Amino acid sequence: MEIKKVGVLGCGLMGSGIAQVCATAGFDVTVLEVEQKYLDKGFVGIEKSLVKFAERGPEKGGITPQQKGEILARLKGTTNKADLADCDIVIEAIIENVEDKKKMYASIDGVVKKEAIFASNTSSISVTELLTSVKRPERFIGLHFFNPVPLMKLVEVVKTIATSAEAYEAAYEFAKRLGKVPVRTSDKTGFIVNRLLVPYLLDAIRAYEEGVGSIEDIDSAMKLGCGYPMGPFTLLDFVGLDTTYYITHVMYDEFKERRFASPPLLKRMVMAGWYGRKSGRGFYDYADPAKPVAGKF
Ligand code: 3HC
Repeated sequence: MEIKKVGVLGCGLMGSGIAQVCATAGFDVTVLEVEQKYLDKGFVGIEKSLVKFAERGPEKGGITPQQKGEILARLKGTTNKADLADCDIVIEAIIENVEDKKKMYASIDGVVKKEAIFASNTSSISVTELLTSVKRPERFIGLHFFNPVPLMKLVEVVKTIATSAEAYEAAYEFAKRLGKVPVRTSDKTGFIVNRLLVPYLLDAIRAYEEGVGSIEDIDSAMKLGCGYPMGPFTLLDFVGLDTTYYITHVMYDEFKERRFASPPLLKRMVMAGWYGRKSGRGFYDYADPAKPVAGKF
């Protein structure tokens, strides 16, 4: 089956990024949201990102102003599920909540053509649990993108015990056509990246709680000592403390190991509404986003 038209569920940070890379790779994309205002917000983000690529220019891996126009023309927003009917693959990137995701899949299963592949961008929820909500379990996979989607090269392609080899390979090839590097993984909570990344991020918080170093010093140490692009606290704020906190629950529930459990400080910051960069405050204060100031807790 040839993939030509892509549906994306959700136009938040991940959904808009996924829609952008699909349109950039030449696919016609329809993005579904519950309200027009969320589409408008997501499309503003896409436009901003495309402006950056256009400023860089094709010789440095960017795009031409003409290509920017063509990419935007391939993107369509909708609040009507019927517009997804002829999509060949539908990638879900809505809120990280099992019941909401299952409800969404169940509501489009009868609308989207039956040969289409359903993919979830979930970072921690079991893909197998999600596929119980549809009548096409063999055409259901995980496609896990990374933030910021237009820049990060990796896509984890997640196979469940019910996924057919044909649907899996089609999704794997599709990820390549997006200009990404796909890796094969199975439906074990956290897949490859979060299985290794989450305990590292949580350990950074524990190290801070134990007085090993300040937030700035731990960040500098990991950036300069290991060559990471961001230190753990900068990355935690970037990913979102609420998102990380949610992932700790799912992973701890699966493995029952302390390394996946939330440290007390993370829980308290989430309770206080300090979600990181998106809420203006996390391990750093972003009152001036160009000059984040590390907190002392
Ligand atoms: N679109 C287009 N271009 C963008 C952009 C975007 N959204 N964001 C940044 N850029 C461009 C900038 O304009 C800049 O372009 P230039 O070189 O032409 O000036 C270039 O990208 C580099 O940006 P910056 O100078 O602002 O910053 P960095 O060099 O630090 O790069 C980064 C930014 C790529 C985000 C890098 O810091 C990085 O790789 N950080 C780690 C991110 C990471 O680990 N992500 C995974 C999170 S885990 C996850 O998502 C899984 C989930 O399940 C939790």
